[in-house]
Amino acid sequence: MSKIENVKACVFDAYGTLFDIHAPTATIAGDLGDKAQPLSDMWRGKQLQYTWLRSLMGKYTDFWQVTGDALDYSLAAHDIDNPDIRQRLMDLYMTLDAYPDAVSTLEQLKASGYATGILSNGSHEMLAAAVEASGLKPLLDEVLSVEDVGIFKPDGRVYQMVVDRFGIQREEVCFVSANAWDASGAADFGFQVAHLNRFNQPPERLPGVPKAILTSLSELPPVIG
Ligand code: 2OP
Repeated sequence: MSKIENVKACVFDAYGTLFDIHAPTATIAGDLGDKAQPLSDMWRGKQLQYTWLRSLMGKYTDFWQVTGDALDYSLAAHDIDNPDIRQRLMDLYMTLDAYPDAVSTLEQLKASGYATGILSNGSHEMLAAAVEASGLKPLLDEVLSVEDVGIFKPDGRVYQMVVDRFGIQREEVCFVSANAWDASGAADFGFQVAHLNRFNQPPERLPGVPKAILTSLSELPPVIG
Protein backbone atom coordinates (compact mmCIF):
# COMPACT_ATOMS: atom_id res chain seq x y z
CA MET A 1 0.00 0.00 0.00
CA SER A 2 1.45 3.40 -0.99
CA LYS A 3 1.52 6.44 1.28
CA ILE A 4 -0.68 9.37 0.36
CA GLU A 5 1.69 12.34 0.59
CA ASN A 6 1.76 16.12 0.35
CA VAL A 7 -2.00 16.61 0.45
CA LYS A 8 -3.81 19.71 1.69
CA ALA A 9 -7.39 18.44 1.81
CA CYS A 10 -9.13 15.16 2.61
CA VAL A 11 -12.43 14.86 0.73
CA PHE A 12 -14.95 12.09 1.27
CA ASP A 13 -17.70 10.51 -0.73
CA ALA A 14 -20.92 10.59 1.31
CA TYR A 15 -23.31 7.69 0.71
CA GLY A 16 -21.72 4.37 1.56
CA THR A 17 -18.54 6.03 2.78
CA LEU A 18 -19.53 8.37 5.63
CA PHE A 19 -23.22 7.48 5.77
CA ASP A 20 -24.68 3.98 6.16
CA ILE A 21 -26.95 3.48 3.16
CA HIS A 22 -28.25 0.15 4.50
CA ALA A 23 -29.47 1.69 7.76
CA PRO A 24 -33.02 2.51 6.51
CA THR A 25 -34.04 -1.07 5.68
CA ALA A 26 -32.22 -2.36 8.77
CA THR A 27 -34.21 0.09 10.92
CA ILE A 28 -37.54 -1.27 9.70
CA ALA A 29 -36.38 -4.86 9.16
CA GLY A 30 -39.27 -5.96 11.36
CA ASP A 31 -41.65 -4.83 8.63
CA LEU A 32 -39.54 -6.17 5.75
CA GLY A 33 -38.51 -9.58 7.05
CA ASP A 34 -36.03 -11.43 4.88
CA LYS A 35 -36.59 -8.92 2.08
CA ALA A 36 -34.73 -6.19 4.01
CA GLN A 37 -31.18 -6.78 2.71
CA PRO A 38 -32.08 -7.79 -0.88
CA LEU A 39 -34.31 -4.71 -1.09
CA SER A 40 -31.50 -2.48 0.18
CA ASP A 41 -28.97 -4.00 -2.21
CA MET A 42 -31.29 -3.55 -5.21
CA TRP A 43 -32.22 0.01 -4.09
CA ARG A 44 -28.56 1.02 -3.96
CA GLY A 45 -27.70 -0.70 -7.24
CA LYS A 46 -30.62 0.84 -9.11
CA GLN A 47 -29.95 4.27 -7.60
CA LEU A 48 -26.41 4.24 -8.99
CA GLN A 49 -27.49 2.75 -12.32
CA TYR A 50 -29.94 5.61 -12.78
CA THR A 51 -27.22 8.19 -12.07
CA TRP A 52 -24.92 6.68 -14.72
CA LEU A 53 -27.72 6.28 -17.28
CA ARG A 54 -29.07 9.78 -16.73
CA SER A 55 -25.56 11.20 -17.20
CA LEU A 56 -25.19 9.28 -20.47
CA MET A 57 -28.66 10.42 -21.58
CA GLY A 58 -28.02 14.04 -20.60
CA LYS A 59 -31.11 13.91 -18.39
CA TYR A 60 -29.88 15.09 -14.97
CA THR A 61 -32.32 15.23 -12.08
CA ASP A 62 -31.45 15.51 -8.41
CA PHE A 63 -30.35 12.55 -6.30
CA TRP A 64 -33.49 12.70 -4.19
CA GLN A 65 -35.63 12.03 -7.26
CA VAL A 66 -33.25 9.26 -8.39
CA THR A 67 -33.29 7.72 -4.90
CA GLY A 68 -37.10 7.70 -4.86
CA ASP A 69 -37.30 6.27 -8.38
CA ALA A 70 -34.83 3.51 -7.47
CA LEU A 71 -36.81 2.69 -4.32
CA ASP A 72 -40.08 2.50 -6.29
CA TYR A 73 -38.49 0.07 -8.75
CA SER A 74 -37.04 -2.06 -5.94
CA LEU A 75 -40.27 -2.15 -3.91
CA ALA A 76 -42.17 -3.27 -7.03
CA ALA A 77 -39.52 -5.92 -7.75
CA HIS A 78 -40.05 -7.29 -4.23
CA ASP A 79 -43.86 -7.13 -4.43
CA ILE A 80 -44.04 -4.53 -1.67
CA ASP A 81 -46.92 -2.12 -2.33
CA ASN A 82 -46.99 -0.06 0.88
CA PRO A 83 -46.85 3.76 0.79
CA ASP A 84 -46.14 3.91 4.52
CA ILE A 85 -43.02 1.76 4.14
CA ARG A 86 -41.91 3.87 1.18
CA GLN A 87 -42.34 7.09 3.16
CA ARG A 88 -40.49 5.71 6.20
CA LEU A 89 -37.56 4.51 4.08
CA MET A 90 -37.25 7.87 2.32
CA ASP A 91 -37.49 9.76 5.61
CA LEU A 92 -34.73 7.56 7.06
CA TYR A 93 -32.58 8.13 3.97
CA MET A 94 -32.66 11.87 4.56
CA THR A 95 -30.95 11.50 7.94
CA LEU A 96 -28.72 8.45 7.54
CA ASP A 97 -26.52 7.36 10.43
CA ALA A 98 -22.81 8.07 10.02
CA TYR A 99 -20.55 5.02 10.25
CA PRO A 100 -19.06 4.67 13.75
CA ASP A 101 -15.52 5.86 12.88
CA ALA A 102 -16.52 8.85 10.74
CA VAL A 103 -16.44 11.44 13.54
CA SER A 104 -13.17 10.27 15.10
CA THR A 105 -11.41 10.11 11.73
CA LEU A 106 -12.50 13.61 10.75
CA GLU A 107 -11.47 14.91 14.18
CA GLN A 108 -7.98 13.43 13.71
CA LEU A 109 -7.62 14.91 10.23
CA LYS A 110 -8.71 18.36 11.40
CA ALA A 111 -6.28 18.15 14.34
CA SER A 112 -3.52 17.36 11.83
CA GLY A 113 -4.31 20.53 9.92
CA TYR A 114 -6.00 19.10 6.82
CA ALA A 115 -8.94 20.83 5.21
CA THR A 116 -11.90 18.44 4.98
CA GLY A 117 -14.93 18.06 2.77
CA ILE A 118 -17.62 15.96 1.16
CA LEU A 119 -18.04 15.47 -2.60
CA SER A 120 -21.30 13.70 -3.36
CA ASN A 121 -24.07 12.86 -5.80
CA GLY A 122 -26.41 13.96 -3.03
CA SER A 123 -28.44 17.14 -3.47
CA HIS A 124 -27.58 20.14 -1.30
CA GLU A 125 -30.73 19.54 0.73
CA MET A 126 -29.95 15.86 1.31
CA LEU A 127 -26.35 16.53 2.29
CA ALA A 128 -27.25 19.38 4.64
CA ALA A 129 -29.77 17.15 6.43
CA ALA A 130 -27.38 14.19 6.70
CA VAL A 131 -24.43 16.31 7.84
CA GLU A 132 -26.57 18.04 10.48
CA ALA A 133 -28.21 14.85 11.77
CA SER A 134 -24.90 12.95 12.01
CA GLY A 135 -23.03 15.70 13.86
CA LEU A 136 -20.38 15.92 11.13
CA LYS A 137 -21.14 19.55 10.23
CA PRO A 138 -18.49 21.22 12.47
CA LEU A 139 -15.83 18.83 11.13
CA LEU A 140 -16.33 19.71 7.44
CA ASP A 141 -14.95 22.78 5.67
CA GLU A 142 -16.86 22.20 2.42
CA VAL A 143 -19.86 20.12 1.32
CA LEU A 144 -19.95 19.84 -2.47
CA SER A 145 -22.91 18.52 -4.47
CA VAL A 146 -23.06 17.47 -8.12
CA GLU A 147 -26.17 19.67 -8.22
CA ASP A 148 -23.78 22.54 -9.05
CA VAL A 149 -22.55 20.91 -12.27
CA GLY A 150 -25.69 19.00 -13.34
CA ILE A 151 -24.01 15.65 -13.93
CA PHE A 152 -23.19 12.68 -11.69
CA LYS A 153 -19.92 11.01 -10.74
CA PRO A 154 -17.58 9.85 -12.21
CA ASP A 155 -17.72 12.75 -14.71
CA GLY A 156 -14.54 14.84 -14.36
CA ARG A 157 -16.55 18.03 -13.88
CA VAL A 158 -17.61 16.69 -10.49
CA TYR A 159 -14.06 16.14 -9.22
CA GLN A 160 -13.00 19.52 -10.68
CA MET A 161 -15.32 21.19 -8.12
CA VAL A 162 -12.89 20.14 -5.35
CA VAL A 163 -9.92 21.79 -7.12
CA ASP A 164 -11.93 24.95 -7.73
CA ARG A 165 -13.47 25.23 -4.25
CA PHE A 166 -10.31 24.44 -2.24
CA GLY A 167 -7.96 26.26 -4.64
CA ILE A 168 -5.45 23.40 -4.71
CA GLN A 169 -3.93 21.04 -7.29
CA ARG A 170 -5.49 17.64 -8.08
CA GLU A 171 -2.54 15.79 -6.53
CA GLU A 172 -2.98 17.77 -3.31
CA VAL A 173 -6.36 16.12 -2.71
CA CYS A 174 -6.80 12.90 -0.75
CA PHE A 175 -10.13 11.41 -1.84
CA VAL A 176 -11.83 8.59 0.06
CA SER A 177 -14.69 6.47 -1.28
CA ALA A 178 -16.25 3.11 -0.45
CA ASN A 179 -17.61 3.02 -4.00
CA ALA A 180 -14.82 1.41 -6.04
CA TRP A 181 -16.01 2.94 -9.34
CA ASP A 182 -15.94 6.40 -7.69
CA ALA A 183 -12.46 5.69 -6.32
CA SER A 184 -11.31 4.77 -9.86
CA GLY A 185 -12.91 7.88 -11.36
CA ALA A 186 -11.25 10.13 -8.79
CA ALA A 187 -7.83 8.45 -9.24
CA ASP A 188 -8.15 8.75 -13.02
CA PHE A 189 -8.93 12.46 -12.55
CA GLY A 190 -5.67 12.88 -10.59
CA PHE A 191 -6.53 12.74 -6.88
CA GLN A 192 -4.55 10.57 -4.46
CA VAL A 193 -7.24 8.04 -3.58
CA ALA A 194 -7.95 5.67 -0.71
CA HIS A 195 -10.61 3.06 -1.51
CA LEU A 196 -12.54 2.14 1.61
CA ASN A 197 -13.24 -1.46 0.69
CA ARG A 198 -15.98 -2.02 3.27
CA PHE A 199 -17.36 -5.10 1.57
CA ASN A 200 -14.04 -6.75 0.59
CA GLN A 201 -14.73 -6.58 -3.13
CA PRO A 202 -12.13 -7.36 -5.84
CA PRO A 203 -10.47 -4.41 -7.64
CA GLU A 204 -12.48 -2.78 -10.43
CA ARG A 205 -11.16 -3.18 -13.97
CA LEU A 206 -11.38 0.52 -14.69
CA PRO A 207 -8.96 3.42 -15.43
CA GLY A 208 -7.62 4.96 -12.23
CA VAL A 209 -5.98 2.97 -9.44
CA PRO A 210 -6.29 3.94 -5.76
CA LYS A 211 -3.01 4.38 -3.85
CA ALA A 212 -4.41 2.78 -0.69
CA ILE A 213 -7.04 0.18 0.19
CA LEU A 214 -8.65 0.52 3.62
CA THR A 215 -11.10 -1.65 5.53
CA SER A 216 -12.16 1.09 7.94
CA LEU A 217 -12.01 4.89 8.03
CA SER A 218 -9.78 4.74 11.11
CA GLU A 219 -6.99 3.31 8.91
CA LEU A 220 -6.82 6.56 6.91
CA PRO A 221 -4.77 8.93 9.14
CA PRO A 222 -1.76 6.55 9.32
CA VAL A 223 -1.50 6.27 5.51
CA ILE A 224 -1.42 10.04 5.00
CA GLY A 225 2.17 11.27 5.32
C1 2OP B 1 -22.15 9.68 -3.34
O1 2OP B 1 -21.85 10.40 -4.30
C2 2OP B 1 -21.56 7.78 -4.82
O2 2OP B 1 -23.65 7.86 -3.78
C3 2OP B 1 -22.31 8.19 -3.62
O3 2OP B 1 -22.31 10.10 -2.18
